[in-house]
Amino acid sequence: MPFIPINFWAFRIMVGIGMFLILVFAGMLFFIYRKDITRSHWLHWIGIALIPLAYIASESGWIVAELGRQPWTIQDMLPTWTAVSDLSSSNIALTFFLFLILSQQCLLLK
Ligand code: HEM
Repeated sequence: MPFIPINFWAFRIMVGIGMFLILVFAGMLFFIYRKDITRSHWLHWIGIALIPLAYIASESGWIVAELGRQPWTIQDMLPTWTAVSDLSSSNIALTFFLFLILSQQCLLLK
C-alpha cells in the first residue's frame, strides 16, 4: 500500500503546474496576437523563469506513477514483482551503446 499523502500532493502539484502552464501559454498567445511579444521582454523573462516548473511537474508525475501503481504494473493482471526485468543493467547499457554506435554509422553513411 503506497503512502497516500505523497501521492495525493505529488498529483496535485503536477496537475496544478500543468493547469497553470496552460493559462500562461494562453496568455502568451494573447500577447502574440496583439503583436506585443517582441517588445515585451518581461514576458520572455517569465518564460525562462518558469522552465523549472516543467521539471518539477515531471518529477511529481513520475512519483505519482511509481508510488501509486503499487503493487500492480497493470491493474489486476501484472503484479510489479513479475514485471521486474532480470536483465542486468550492464547488458542494457551495452545494447544501448551498440544501438547508438550503429545509428550514428547509418547517419554517416546517408
Ligand atoms: C495538466 C494536467 C495533468 C494531468 C491531468 C496529468 C495526469 C497524469 C496522470 C493520471 C498520471 C499517472 C499515469 C499512470 O497511471 O501511471 C501522470 C503521470 C505523469 N505525468 Fe502528468 N498530468 C498533468 C500534467 C503533467 C505535466 C505538466 C507534466 C510534466 C511537464 C507531467 C508529467 C508526468 C509524468 C512524467 C508522469 C509519469 C509517467 C510514467 O512514468 O508513467 N504531467 N500524469
